[in-house]
Amino acid sequence: MTAQEIRKKYLNYFETRAHAVIPRASLVPGGDPTTLFTGSGMQPLVPYLLGQPHPAGNRLVNSQTCFRAEDMDEVSDNRHTTFFEMLGNWSLGDYYQSEQLTWFFEFLTDELGLDPQKLYVTCFIGDENSGVPRDTQSASIWNQLFKSKGISAKTIDVGSEQTGYGEDFLKDSTNRIFYYDASKNWWSRMGVPANMAEGEPGGPDSEVFYDFGTPHDEKYGKNCHPNCDCGRFLEIGNSVFMAYKKVNARFEALPKPNVDFGGGLERIAAASINSPDIFEISLLRPVIDGLERLSGRNYDAYQASMRVIADHLRAAVWLAVDGVIPSNKQQGYVLRRLLRRAIRYAFDLGIEQDLCEKVATIVIDTYAPDFPELNGQKNEILKILSQEERIFRQTLRAGVREFEKLMAGPLGTEVLGEAASRLLTGELTFLLYDTYGFPLELSREEAKRRGINEVNSLEEVHVRKMEEQRQRSQTASQGMFKGGLADQSEETVKLHTTTHLMYQALKQVLGSHVMQRGSNITAERTRFDFSHPQKVTSEEMKQVEDIVNQKITEDLPVTWKEENTEEAFNKGASGAFGDRYGNTVKVYTIGDSENSFSREICGGPHVEHTGAIGEGGKKFKIIKEEASSAGVRRIKAVLQ
Ligand code: ALA
Repeated sequence: MTAQEIRKKYLNYFETRAHAVIPRASLVPGGDPTTLFTGSGMQPLVPYLLGQPHPAGNRLVNSQTCFRAEDMDEVSDNRHTTFFEMLGNWSLGDYYQSEQLTWFFEFLTDELGLDPQKLYVTCFIGDENSGVPRDTQSASIWNQLFKSKGISAKTIDVGSEQTGYGEDFLKDSTNRIFYYDASKNWWSRMGVPANMAEGEPGGPDSEVFYDFGTPHDEKYGKNCHPNCDCGRFLEIGNSVFMAYKKVNARFEALPKPNVDFGGGLERIAAASINSPDIFEISLLRPVIDGLERLSGRNYDAYQASMRVIADHLRAAVWLAVDGVIPSNKQQGYVLRRLLRRAIRYAFDLGIEQDLCEKVATIVIDTYAPDFPELNGQKNEILKILSQEERIFRQTLRAGVREFEKLMAGPLGTEVLGEAASRLLTGELTFLLYDTYGFPLELSREEAKRRGINEVNSLEEVHVRKMEEQRQRSQTASQGMFKGGLADQSEETVKLHTTTHLMYQALKQVLGSHVMQRGSNITAERTRFDFSHPQKVTSEEMKQVEDIVNQKITEDLPVTWKEENTEEAFNKGASGAFGDRYGNTVKVYTIGDSENSFSREICGGPHVEHTGAIGEGGKKFKIIKEEASSAGVRRIKAVLQ
């Protein structure tokens, strides 16, 4: 059965059970400034789950296009994608556990023909802190459902990671209903109960896993179990019993309990063809086939790259369908990142032109029969994506030109010694990567094309330099957060905010490759290191000074907020190169939050408004510009 057929069957199945088929919502949520993308089917329905009547009734079904930017780095294994469709059905205070679990089980086994022996389920073990009891109701429904297929299904407490994922639960083949704690079997948009904001709905859930029977990988723990990440089990559906709302840090029952079901269409389709590789399904395999044709290479040999390209370009098409245009901000920035990553990976496969147009055409043709909104926009989408590809390829080409200069020119020999002009070294590939983001593979490709040989140590040196750089940056950033400010005097704090202004001004004047490499701020001056390949000219310095002084005059507000790290970056916040951040970061914004001048991840402290910097008629002035290390410039500046 194709994924397209599964989607249709699902909608029909619930339509015949009195559900209204509602259209998918846009990937860009309307009227919800807290999140960049629609990441689950329930997101557009929150007001109705909280009790508002839905115009289409209290039984709803759809297939919701979803995008999760936070999964971008996970793509390349056989089951993660950034874009996916979530099959969803909802009971707004209508039916509950019994109907929900029965219908989903029937749909999987009777409609799709999945082997019930391959299905495993999980339930909520209960939690004293939030006062929500063990979900024995779901467990006993599951027991009956398995029994109806002649399968004896026992419950087993897996509990939490701490209390014993170590046991081999699968050695008893009747263990089929697994109780887990809230980290696995509680669902809200914000995760576990403790992380939920006031007023947020959530509840215990019950998940269904499909067993591909692939060997367990001990990297993920001694023994396998349904929630193990080794890939043997794939979650194909989640029934959330959304019965609670967080109020005064406790859980209050909603007037009527809801069901919020979501199941990944791609994953269900993979289970239906019994392939653990979701890129084999009918919505993705045509893209992989296209990449094989364009590159003349085999998927089997280039799985990781082809998966990234296929995922990213499919997501890019869908973002474009919903009106996103590549830019340096918010959704546009995420789209740009997707396209650039896809183009780079494709470059490694030898696809050097027309990638977006060719692949996007396949994506559009695959989806258009079911989503007519794609057809009308086809030309427009192809134009937007191809144009972005042209721009980025110019950047890649600029990197190539720089490569040539470095191989032959004075900087190459000055920094890297005589060998640089004849052999490709790890020092050189690192320098190119570090300064231009030019990937190692591209450098190698360029060298090969020019008949330049590699030194044997290339890869080892390149990797070592990357690691050294990472450690240096970490040290630098520790310095930046603690010792980066010599003291917390008023003058130092003023120069700290000034440094943020200068960083942004440097990006505007010199380009987006400018990345902070370190800073040191005293009451007298700021010293700032940043990546830039050549001397900053006096005109450029003048422009930077003018911008900073202009922003001081504008007396912009300086505010900060805790933000989710991935989201902070997605929304274009600057950080220092190579820094590692936790899950949340403090982001300082200069200017209106809607239309800010600068957004930087930083520990503070700062002045409250930029006008304070200019008090007493002080002006920002650069007093020195020099090389700090290869590809890194250093500026000293004062207020005078
Ligand atoms: N909202 C639930 C999920 O996304 C169904 O898993």
